[in-house]
Amino acid sequence: MKVLVTGGAGFIGSNVADRLVEEGHQVVVLDDLSSGKREQVPAAANFYQMELDGRWLDRVVEREKPDAVCHLAAQISVRRSVEDPVFDARVNILASIGLIEACRLHGVKRFIFTSTGGAIYGDADQIPTPETYPAAGRGGGDLQQGGAGGPRRDHQRRWQADAGLRVRG
Ligand SMILES: NC(=O)c1ccc[n+]([C@@H]2O[C@H](COP(=O)([O-])OP(=O)(O)OC[C@H]3O[C@@H](n4cnc5c(N)ncnc54)[C@H](O)[C@@H]3O)[C@@H](O)[C@H]2O)c1
Repeated sequence: MKVLVTGGAGFIGSNVADRLVEEGHQVVVLDDLSSGKREQVPAAANFYQMELDGRWLDRVVEREKPDAVCHLAAQISVRRSVEDPVFDARVNILASIGLIEACRLHGVKRFIFTSTGGAIYGDADQIPTPETYPAAGRGGGDLQQGGAGGPRRDHQRRWQADAGLRVRG
């Protein structure tokens, strides 16, 4: 299977990319190296150094035609999300929507969305918290990181109805 890993030069994404390579998958990494490191990208991966919210995203998805996308690129600093909420929303919400939309347009069938549990579900009273638990961020970075969960759910319903797409996250 060919898998596109966004944020594949970061902490979680590079470990996911390594594991996918180990398991024999073809891996494509997209990362702007704003906090990630080039040396963390597995040598076997096809690497695109670019911003998720840049105008080439659609071209990459169209050209690579991945079977699945693991979306791990994110602006993860809570401090920055409070100081510059517009930038934070652009990366964590708008770029996520753009990626989901590019996947829908180019027939990607699986999309794994990753955020952080507290950001999406708040102080949930059910641990482990199931994906069906109501979203309830606590503000600041939580609002932004959880924010992509809303569009993700909308697309999940739409894709599942229209194209049989499986969205997890
Ligand atoms: N690290 C944890 O313990 C942890 C726990 C739970 C959830 N998560 C979630 O996993 C995801 C990844 O976290 P991480 O710890 O690996 O963060 P990280 O900062 O190490 O990795 C994020 C990667 O995204 C890249 N990136 C940022 N903005 C980009 C953009 N606009 N275009 C392209 N690439 C961009 C960065 O260069 C970096 O390589 C986040 O959504 C985070 O909330 C992390």
